[in-house]
Amino acid sequence: MTGSRVVPVNEPLLNGNERRYVDDCVTTGWISSDGPYVRRFEEEFAARVGRKHGIAVCNGSVAIDVAVVALRLGAGDEVIVPTFTIISCLAPLIRAGVTPVLVDADPLTWNMSVAQIEDKITPRTRAIMVVHIYGLPVDMDAVLAIAERHGLRIIEDAAEMHGQTYRGTPCGSFGDVSTFSFYANKHVTTGEGGMVLTDDDQIAERCRLLRNLAFVPPRRFVHHEIGWNFRMSNIQAALGVAQLERLDEFLARKRRMGARYTELLHDIKGVSLPLPSTEYADNVYWVYGIVLEDEAGTNAEEVMRQLGSLGVGTRPFFWPMHLQPVFQSLGLFKGEHYPVAERLSTQGFYLPSGMALTEEDISYSAASLRQVLR
Ligand SMILES: Cc1ncc(COP(=O)(O)O)c(C=O)c1O
Repeated sequence: MTGSRVVPVNEPLLNGNERRYVDDCVTTGWISSDGPYVRRFEEEFAARVGRKHGIAVCNGSVAIDVAVVALRLGAGDEVIVPTFTIISCLAPLIRAGVTPVLVDADPLTWNMSVAQIEDKITPRTRAIMVVHIYGLPVDMDAVLAIAERHGLRIIEDAAEMHGQTYRGTPCGSFGDVSTFSFYANKHVTTGEGGMVLTDDDQIAERCRLLRNLAFVPPRRFVHHEIGWNFRMSNIQAALGVAQLERLDEFLARKRRMGARYTELLHDIKGVSLPLPSTEYADNVYWVYGIVLEDEAGTNAEEVMRQLGSLGVGTRPFFWPMHLQPVFQSLGLFKGEHYPVAERLSTQGFYLPSGMALTEEDISYSAASLRQVLR
């Protein structure tokens, strides 16, 4: 193998109606958030997830800010959240004055350890933030039962889980409030973008208010609350409408890619591959994760460096929240250890997983991994 080939870690596929709908925005002049595609994208995406309301925002991180504030979580409240996730889940809690309480990851699915949730509940616990990681959903029946038993809200971060289902029911339909991201590596992308989904009319209204600087009638520019400008533009929504038209095709494509990687790598020594399925879902392989075992005798950083020199793009796994310098400086998570998340963060990374990946890209990436680990 030579290093002349380059396989990007992610590349979106934008060859449907994207250009036509974006062109429509430019032609009609509807380029900000006051355009017909925003409403259409909200309605069509919410319908796809089986929810009453969709509130489009400018990314999946701020969608969580809106969710937290819409649920009126604040100082004195605790929310249970996985340590193995992106900072987008914790930052909104900290900004709202909420105390995040962590659980470790499950070693097989890499999702939050549902078994640890109940031990973390205190009289101050108000909600569980469920985050579906990399391709398999969290075991929602177990989480819903805990939430019901203790009267807790659920925020469901389904950023990575477009089109995925849990026992046949769409991910994103379980939370009191659920959120999605439409960053360029998501199954449905708007470049940057996000959405908040709920069935509750009042929460939905509050999300719309918070996203739009808390403008209220009758007198514009008179405010009773602090909101944000988190609006999605009509141009972004136009991309989203075109992408959503192809979600089923994209899902099938992702599943084929994942199956192909597994076929090529199933006998490779020293690595764990993503679980193809659990009793409640088939992996959608949002990304194709690799976890190096001890017998590999190396770590993710080193393998990623060598793959990079062969032109294979990779990304490390998340870095656990309890080890984040910013949270340690706030005095959070002192002395806490989560061995599964710690291991995943040093031994895990993902291979090229974008929607535009070709069969040759997959073969080359898999062969490169073999070469590096030989
Ligand atoms: C689980 C999860 N939540 C939230 C986000 C944040 O989304 P965004 O990048 O659109 O802000 C991401 C981003 O990939 C994510 O993976």
